[in-house]
Amino acid sequence: MSANTIAFLNFKGGVGKTATAVNIGAALAHYQKQRVLIVDLDPQCNASFWLMPPADWKAHVDGGKNSTYQIFQDQIMGTHRFDFEKAVVRAVPRKGGISQISRLDILPAAVELITIEDRIHQNKYARFFEFLHQALKPYYKEYDYIFFDCPPNVYSISKNALYAAENCVVPYVPDFLSLSGFQLLAQQIEQFNDRISGFKGIRRRASIVALLASHYKPSKAHDQGLNELEITLHRLKAEGLTHHDAKLLLPPIRHLADVAESTNEHMPVILHNPTGRGADDYSQIAKAFHSHFQSL
Ligand SMILES: Nc1ncnc2c1ncn2[C@@H]1O[C@H](COP(=O)(O)OP(=O)(O)O)[C@@H](O)[C@H]1O
Ligand SMILES: [Mg+2]
Repeated sequence: MSANTIAFLNFKGGVGKTATAVNIGAALAHYQKQRVLIVDLDPQCNASFWLMPPADWKAHVDGGKNSTYQIFQDQIMGTHRFDFEKAVVRAVPRKGGISQISRLDILPAAVELITIEDRIHQNKYARFFEFLHQALKPYYKEYDYIFFDCPPNVYSISKNALYAAENCVVPYVPDFLSLSGFQLLAQQIEQFNDRISGFKGIRRRASIVALLASHYKPSKAHDQGLNELEITLHRLKAEGLTHHDAKLLLPPIRHLADVAESTNEHMPVILHNPTGRGADDYSQIAKAFHSHFQSL
């Protein structure tokens, strides 16, 4: 069995891509006993910092070598330095040197990733979108879920995630400004899929299979936003712009202080405050997430 490979994608920043990837990943590993790998693809390294104290991260990635950066660096430079076994950090987070979740691993990012977009662009690689998949495919069988935490854009690195992933999950803040980008994102994914369909040996097309609502504040505006999200999803599904079983997974994740605080502790919220509301929302959404992916 190969992992469910999933890109957490939205070209907006701050909508909860990293928060949902890290916290759903942690809940799936902890409660559902799933083997989960988080692949951090954002030069801001937020998923890495959420699960590793900065000093541990710095010592580990050491100039980018043990990180996702090295995958792209190898392709651009023609080197073979990326070593998954060295780069992956197993059983994160650790507290006092002790692993807290045995089945949760992370492949950290490095800030050097910021240089990659330009360099891919300058070199005009025809099949640039395969770099990540080629490097990681031998490890897909080791996991039940692999989450690609994308940067806030749909440029080359995110396209690598789209190609490596079977499916795409889109986190949204249920307000008008966020929603206006949903159709555009679905179209961009479709355009990318169309563009690569002419290449030989293309494996499959990733499509949007789930939406998540994050930063939810119980209010008329956000309830209206959730409603609009359902309506837009229905329409895009009918137009073939999403997976035919795509759905909005519930409950919406509330905007909560304990989720924000958990980043300071470098812990997923289910460990930071196991009896709090953030842990409650995330354990419920992880259950919905798991049954959705099992039913596909
Ligand atoms: N449910 C939540 N409640 C409160 N703060 C949150 C919640 N989810 C995320 N955050 C905070 O909001 C910010 C943006 O979230 P993040 O997941 O980093 O977005 P993205 O990855 O889409 O840019 C982060 O600082 C994070 O700590
Ligand atoms: Mg992020």
